[in-house]
Amino acid sequence: MSQRVALVTGAGSGIGLACVERLSNDGLRVAALDADPQAAEACRTSFGALPVAVDVSEEGEVALAVERVLHELGQIDVAANVAGITGSRAAAECHVTPVGEWMRVIAVNLTGPFLVCRAVLPHMLAQGAGVIVNIASVAGLVAFPGRCAYTASKGGVVQLTRSIAADYAARGIRANAICPGMVDTPMTRWRLEDPELGPQMLARIPQGRVAKPQEIAEVVGLLATGAMPYANGSTIVLDGAFSAV
Ligand SMILES: NC(=O)c1ccc[n+]([C@@H]2O[C@H](COP(=O)([O-])OP(=O)(O)OC[C@H]3O[C@@H](n4cnc5c(N)ncnc54)[C@H](O)[C@@H]3O)[C@@H](O)[C@H]2O)c1
Repeated sequence: MSQRVALVTGAGSGIGLACVERLSNDGLRVAALDADPQAAEACRTSFGALPVAVDVSEEGEVALAVERVLHELGQIDVAANVAGITGSRAAAECHVTPVGEWMRVIAVNLTGPFLVCRAVLPHMLAQGAGVIVNIASVAGLVAFPGRCAYTASKGGVVQLTRSIAADYAARGIRANAICPGMVDTPMTRWRLEDPELGPQMLARIPQGRVAKPQEIAEVVGLLATGAMPYANGSTIVLDGAFSAV
C-alpha cells in the first residue's frame, strides 16, 4: 500500500506545526500549507514536508494548492484544517466589529475549511476513503465574550463538519471537529504572558493549565491513522473542563 498523505493547513505554527510533526512521525507524507511561505518551508527542513504557500480564504489558491499536492504526492488521505485567526482587537462585540474584520475572520476560519474540503472531497470520493479533521474551538460551543466573529466562525466549523459527516459517511469519508480550549501557541501567548490577562485565563480552566499544541495534534493523529474509526461527525472537546462549568 502506498504511503498515506496528509494535508495540513496552518502548518507553520502552533497546533498546525504540531500536527505536521505528529503525522510525519506516524509515517504519513505531509503537505504543509500556510499563508506564510517561510513557515511552510521550515516544515520541509524539519519534517521533510511538502511546503505550499496558500491563503486558505482564496478559492483559486486553494484549488491550485490541492492540485499541487495531488501532483507531487499522488493522493490525499487526510485533510486537517488548522489555519485560523482571531481577528484584530477591533473584532470584538457585535456592534463595534468592523464589517471588514468580520468578513476576514469568517473567510479564514470558516470559508477556508469549506474551500479545502470542497477541493479535496472529489479526490476522496474517487478513492472511496478520506479523513477530515477541522480544528474548531471551544468558542464554537460556548461564546468567548467580546469575540463575536471568532465565536460565530467556530460554531460554523462545528456545523460544517457535521454536514460533511452526514453527507459523505456512506462513501467512506469521516469528518470530525476538535474543539480545543486554551492552547499555548503564538496565537495565545501574548495573553498568557500578560500579567493581568494570563492569571485570569488560567483561573477559568478547572484543570489549572493550558494545553500544549502536541496534545491537540495527538488526537488529530488518532483520527488520521484510523485509531478511532467510528468517530464521525463528532465534536471532540479538549479544554481541561473549561466548558464543563
Ligand atoms: N491556541 C489556542 O488556544 C486555540 C484554541 C482553540 C482553537 N484554536 C484554533 O487552532 C487553530 C490553530 O491555532 P494556533 O493557536 O496554532 O495559531 P497560530 O497563530 O500559532 O498558527 C496559525 C497558523 O495559520 C496560518 N494562517 C493564518 N491565516 C491563514 C490563511 N488565511 N491561510 C493559510 N494559513 C493561515 C498562520 O500563518 C499560522 O502559521 C486555529 O484555527 C485556532 O482558531 C486555537
